[in-house]
Amino acid sequence: MRHLLDICDFSEVELNELIATAEDIIVNPAKYSEKCKGKKLATLFFESSTRTRLSFEAAMYELGGHVLGFSSASSSSTTKGESVGDTIRVTGYYADIIAMRHPYAGAPLAAIQKTKVPIINAGDGEHCHPTQTLADLLTIHREKGTLENLTIGLCGDLKYGRTVHSLIAAMARYKGTKFIFISPNELKIPDYIKKTTLKTTNTPWEETDSIEDAIPKLDILYMTRVQGERFLDKAEYERLKNSYIISTDKLQTAKSDLAILHPLPRVNEISVKVDDDPRACYFKQVENGKYIRMALILKLLNEKNYESPISQNKKLINVYKCTNHNCITTITQEIDQIFEVLDEEQGIYCCEYCKKCEVKI
Ligand code: NCD
Repeated sequence: MRHLLDICDFSEVELNELIATAEDIIVNPAKYSEKCKGKKLATLFFESSTRTRLSFEAAMYELGGHVLGFSSASSSSTTKGESVGDTIRVTGYYADIIAMRHPYAGAPLAAIQKTKVPIINAGDGEHCHPTQTLADLLTIHREKGTLENLTIGLCGDLKYGRTVHSLIAAMARYKGTKFIFISPNELKIPDYIKKTTLKTTNTPWEETDSIEDAIPKLDILYMTRVQGERFLDKAEYERLKNSYIISTDKLQTAKSDLAILHPLPRVNEISVKVDDDPRACYFKQVENGKYIRMALILKLLNEKNYESPISQNKKLINVYKCTNHNCITTITQEIDQIFEVLDEEQGIYCCEYCKKCEVKI
């Protein structure tokens, strides 16, 4: 069974193949219009969504398939106390493939242990959002003609912004990528990303709180919303929510071929006047999201016999508990705790569901 839980589940070659399929779908839609005839996609959205859910549904319809599901936890048996594992198990009897979004990190990893159909992570808490990254990669590829040698500025909420975490993991694997992280001190990217992805790929990066300093150097500017729903301290959210606002004035020092991306929804990080600037690509990104999700559904349905390689580094350690309050293991008892060995000698392990909690054993 093939799933997409994390963008690193796909190799660079596979990412390039998905982009090529999506670009072929754009040119030859009729060729794909019956590819999923008789197949059903379930969209299980335990957390709200506009683009991701609708683009998955539009993608399945354009492939000739059918869609079922729910758009909020409140319209599912979650309100009656059903666990995510049971909901997923039940859905596996009705659908051929499941796209799920959940407010807790690692919920899709819990889900794959309960069903025999492919699971797509459509966003899990503050952890990651691999299908938004696929939309981002297709957009960058169509705008720039390449995914290599790009300086990418990520701006806004880099701490809780799951689209940022997945985009870093993907682009760090392409040659010549350089990151500039632009955020207030409180919203810097989590340390685990610096210690793992950025370190192992040797990707150059710098951090700044000044968008003005960063803008002239960028090929891509990736704006993000401050994720109010993830803050424990609402007063802090109020203080930080308007940290960066891109206006036509701020773009005066930018390159003429800058591509401005945003996963949307936008609150007020980008002034609406910027929408008319030819460098604004965020609505193109919305459309690209549908095409790349078509390519993804096709890939996963065609790889049902795939055997996931089991990493030697993953260990079931039920005596230790993850302490991250956003981790799925904190709200459900029915799943095993899985830790990855980070440092065998020093006994450092990291929670496989949320990647955030480290324990010394
Ligand atoms: C993002 C998400 O859900 O993480 N939205 C999306 O899927 N396009 C970004 C956000 O909510 O800010």
